[in-house]
Amino acid sequence: MDLKAHIRPIPDFPKPGILFYDITTLLLHAEALKEAVDRLATVVRPYKPDLLAGIESRGFIFGAPLAYALGCGFSILRKKGKLPGRISAHEYALEYGTDTLEIHDDAVQPGQRVVLIDDLLATGGTLAAGARLLRQVGAVVPAAACVIELSFLYGRSKLDIPVETLVTYDS
Ligand code: PRP
Ligand code: MG
Repeated sequence: MDLKAHIRPIPDFPKPGILFYDITTLLLHAEALKEAVDRLATVVRPYKPDLLAGIESRGFIFGAPLAYALGCGFSILRKKGKLPGRISAHEYALEYGTDTLEIHDDAVQPGQRVVLIDDLLATGGTLAAGARLLRQVGAVVPAAACVIELSFLYGRSKLDIPVETLVTYDS
């Protein structure tokens, strides 16, 4: 199945000149959603994760069913101020401004293998922040996986782990 056929490009969102790749159309299509999760399972399984970690918010959409498919637990990296327990936080740069990701300090047991999951690799700042936080709380992070890669933003160059992606856009 061609997953790109179910991803909707929307020009000028969130601002003029940006082409936004919208996954809501893929999510609406039962077979495309299943195909995306099944293909993520195929590429993530060889890393033998103990846990997956999803990045709020779109990483949760793919991460939780993937954890179910692989028989893993699921850990969550959330935006600032959402987690109730003891947390570690990391601020990271966006194209304009900054954002912060947080994790519960007990979300990972020391030495657990945790694969990071998100919907999209763009500049790589989000996955880099996620990997850093996971290591801060004791995880081994063998890889990350996303549905979409925007290769023209060179996000991989910010990361010291392999990133598995299902579809690539080069412009
Ligand atoms: C988007 C996307 C990735 C991130 C990729 O999330 O879902 O998480 O940006 O960008 P980067 O590789 O340049 O860091 P966003 O922060 O817009 O929030 P959302 O998932 O809550 O929609
Ligand atoms: Mg996101």
